[in-house]
Amino acid sequence: MTIHIGAQPGDIAETVLLPGDPYRAKWAAETFLSDVALVNEVRGMLGYTGTWNGHKVTIQGSGMGMPSLSIYVNELIKDYGAKTLIRIGSCGAMQDSVAVRDVILAMTASSLSTPSRGILRELNYAPCADWSLLQAAVKAAENKGVATHVGGIYSSDVFYDERPDLNEQMVRHGVLGVEMEAAELYILAARHKCRALAVLTVSDHLITGEALPSDQRETSFGDMVEIALNAAFT
Ligand code: HPA
Repeated sequence: MTIHIGAQPGDIAETVLLPGDPYRAKWAAETFLSDVALVNEVRGMLGYTGTWNGHKVTIQGSGMGMPSLSIYVNELIKDYGAKTLIRIGSCGAMQDSVAVRDVILAMTASSLSTPSRGILRELNYAPCADWSLLQAAVKAAENKGVATHVGGIYSSDVFYDERPDLNEQMVRHGVLGVEMEAAELYILAARHKCRALAVLTVSDHLITGEALPSDQRETSFGDMVEIALNAAFT
């Protein structure tokens, strides 16, 4: 047990999928895994361990934003020995070439700041995905026939953004989408010699204002889970 995770040692797999929403963790575990056990419910941040094609997998909610994700990922890595961590979440599109329901595989994640700022200090570290996971996820997405984009995203500290000028610069510099967790995940994985990737579905579009209809949210979330699982065990 750790401060935020009630699982016993050995309850957590080396491969962990991280949706922001704990109820998505429950849905994904019940839909895609066999022999599922609830391993965490501290603060309602549900985590489940089961098997997929014979491989042990944990699906653990991370909460919203980098400070929350940082707590879970630190404990998963340092106390439970997690080695491969894949965020599955949503993002807002920032380019005309990206459509709602498309998948973005985040090659890099820019930010204004992360919880690791205190360690990195003046260094503008470039958080990036694990290449083997990224490559495998591209193949898995292609096999599923999902429209996929690979490139840089922005991990924001705020959902209710009040810096249109900053968004303008990101659009100009080719940033594909905005979410709130990947940069810290990539930094922690690098620090602890783990593999990380963020697989993101476009749930809303910052330029067109379009949003993914609620009946399509579950299907696209399912696509991401399958892409993440295939990538993890390639
Ligand atoms: N901003 C930040 N995070 C998000 C967004 C957004 O527009 N959409 C989905 N996650």
